[in-house]
Amino acid sequence: MIVSETVKRQIESASWIRRMFEEGIRLKQERGAENIFDFTLGNPTEDPPEKIQTALRKLVEKNAPGTHSYMPNAGFPQVRRKLAESLKRDTGIPFTEDHILMTVGCAGAMNTVFKAMLNPGDEVIVPMPFFPDYQFYIANFSGVMVPVETTEEFDLDVAAIESKITPRTRAIILNSPNNPSGVIYSEEVLRELEQVLQRADHAIIVISDEPYKSYVYDGAACPETSSIISNCIIATSWSKTWSIPGERIGYLAISPRLPEANALCQACTFTNRILGFINAPAIWQLAAAEATDALPDLKIYSEKRGLLCKGLAESGYEVRKPQGAFYLFLKTPIPDDMEFTRILQKEGVLAVPGKGFGRSGYIRLSLTVSLDTIVRSLPFFANAIKKIGSSGKSVGTKV
Ligand SMILES: Cc1ncc(COP(=O)(O)O)c(C=O)c1O
Repeated sequence: MIVSETVKRQIESASWIRRMFEEGIRLKQERGAENIFDFTLGNPTEDPPEKIQTALRKLVEKNAPGTHSYMPNAGFPQVRRKLAESLKRDTGIPFTEDHILMTVGCAGAMNTVFKAMLNPGDEVIVPMPFFPDYQFYIANFSGVMVPVETTEEFDLDVAAIESKITPRTRAIILNSPNNPSGVIYSEEVLRELEQVLQRADHAIIVISDEPYKSYVYDGAACPETSSIISNCIIATSWSKTWSIPGERIGYLAISPRLPEANALCQACTFTNRILGFINAPAIWQLAAAEATDALPDLKIYSEKRGLLCKGLAESGYEVRKPQGAFYLFLKTPIPDDMEFTRILQKEGVLAVPGKGFGRSGYIRLSLTVSLDTIVRSLPFFANAIKKIGSSGKSVGTKV
């Protein structure tokens, strides 16, 4: 067999996503696409903000010399300078262009930094539920993922994190606003974690995975993790902020407060190159620098969030409104989320079981669908819970 044993195992463990995808295609063919409500993918369908589209058009029209050339592997210096200035304003941390590395999306950023940091057997603590690809990014460099429980509300349980720290712990991934739970970690809980990290007898780095940073609701604010945690590396992208996940543009920002920050930046520049990324897409670096303050249209996401949460609560689901990001992590009316996903599927509703995120008893619904899809799907969600109700299980309601 040509495919390695490791990759075969990884494909198998990620196969629930593929099965959902294939089932979705089959159902669309069988019943017509308009009768299938696909809440599985976090693929934003809104147009990118006008500001970024204009910046891109101007760059293409101008076609200045060097627009499509290699640049220093870390990215165009003027782009990194602009980002460092904006980060310095937002966080109060003295970032300079030397702390910024332009990357191929956030996934590229995380692989680049893990390649630079991890020795075989090094441990990375990951609060549950988590973005499933973390396990593969860590395994790519022979690291070991150490999942850790969160609270009932999916907030960080700092004592649980502390109990998982060993001499092999190199990093903790924090993703806030969180995919899939929508939770935003408070300043208070981040400060508590900082105290634990300061007490540790070796440097433990927080990788702050921030692609959903601009998606916050009801006037909430997402604290700047790098302002609170000294040993912090930001990994992020504009995939979600600007609805451009296919363009693969993001960056790493390595806090100057980190011991060996400069050595790590140089190492990441090198690993970004030898992983085959070489550098981030040139024209998107230039466009990003023109539009660093462009934001998504939160009004539409807020409307979709409100509509879905209200509709599900009225049908008897126990709903907890997400504070940020664009997913609803919904408690299933029966503990078996795989079974409930199948029940929804029969109604034409596609969701991702929580098991894949390390938290059974929930499903993830993406708010990247249209308002119309949400409205038309609600009676089918209601049918699914009625089927459970008739088997004698009771459900509560909380919005
Ligand atoms: C939590 C989280 N981190 C990282 C990524 C990867 O982002 P990108 O597409 O920019 O590589 C995603 C994508 O869905 C995500 O949800």
